[in-house]
Amino acid sequence: MRISEWGTTPSGETVHRLVLGSAPGAVLHVLTLGATVHRLEVEAGGPRRNIALGHRDPADYLGSSDYIGGTIGRYANRIAGGRTTLDGDELTLGAHDRGNHLHGGPDGFDRRVWEVADAGEDHAVLRLVSPDGDQGFPGTVRAQVTFTVTGHAVGVELEATTDAPTLVNLTSHAYFNLDGDGAGTIDEHRLTVPAERYTPVDATGIPLGDHAPVAGTAFDFRRPAAIGPRVRRDEEQIVLARGIDHNYVVDGEGWRTAAVLESPAAGTRLILRSDQPGLQVYTGNFLDGSRRTAQGGLYRQGDGIALEPQLHPDSPNRPEWPSAVLRPGETYRCRLEWELSAIGR
Ligand code: GLA
Repeated sequence: MRISEWGTTPSGETVHRLVLGSAPGAVLHVLTLGATVHRLEVEAGGPRRNIALGHRDPADYLGSSDYIGGTIGRYANRIAGGRTTLDGDELTLGAHDRGNHLHGGPDGFDRRVWEVADAGEDHAVLRLVSPDGDQGFPGTVRAQVTFTVTGHAVGVELEATTDAPTLVNLTSHAYFNLDGDGAGTIDEHRLTVPAERYTPVDATGIPLGDHAPVAGTAFDFRRPAAIGPRVRRDEEQIVLARGIDHNYVVDGEGWRTAAVLESPAAGTRLILRSDQPGLQVYTGNFLDGSRRTAQGGLYRQGDGIALEPQLHPDSPNRPEWPSAVLRPGETYRCRLEWELSAIGR
């Protein structure tokens, strides 16, 4: 593991970069700002390249609403109107996305500088204390993320505890482009999501009602399909989100494959495994050329895809769905893994 100073936030905090793993295996660059996946170098069938999107400096991360690579908390995805109840108490949460709570609020975990609690050649543990009342959430939450690089795989373990009942739904908002960051769009990537149902949403990204079958829609990725044609289908749910920005109900339970992403051009496959009930698939719909890449270029629509294991959106207002409530004495856990390989091997 190598740790170095990477930059300074506009408010004067130092941001460190940790480098985990070694070639020819995966090499992961993590920033203490947002416990962010900043760069992921792999071979896996193609030439050695970076397959994770990332910005150039702390100000670019903090000036962006794209959540590139960040660790999201306390609550990934949306809560309708930023309002819900917990044990009978009304909560009013930071709501900065078309009137809804999104990804922990205007000052979510992805915007904080995390402390390095432990680090070695192939792993790092980062911690963050979120005070009582943070973004409207009750309880002091202690969050921890562990990144582990093993050969061509990266594991991410997200954990949290609290001193009062609260809501927790953490995820990684890493974006991938298997052809390499800056190599164009993910239109030709083939995606598989083993899910019979997804969650249709309204124009602000809030679930309309219950989950719905993917069969017969642009959202059916039960068999591998190229992404480009799907996000150009004139179907209402695609139009509303300008592509795919939807939550899937991943078939099965427990530790399992949540998605497979392949680039036939690069000859590379990424298998995402997780233990979460839902998977937000976001095809980079709002990347609009206004934010810089780490190389100093600009991100445009579809330049990367985020595959975010998590609970279903607005779950605090949907008691019939898996619960985000965390109580004192309990430990929240979300595990995920990205495994890279050459296609056909
Ligand atoms: C999530 C949301 C999207 C968008 C991206 C970041 O995936 O669901 O609507 O906000 O984050 O831009």
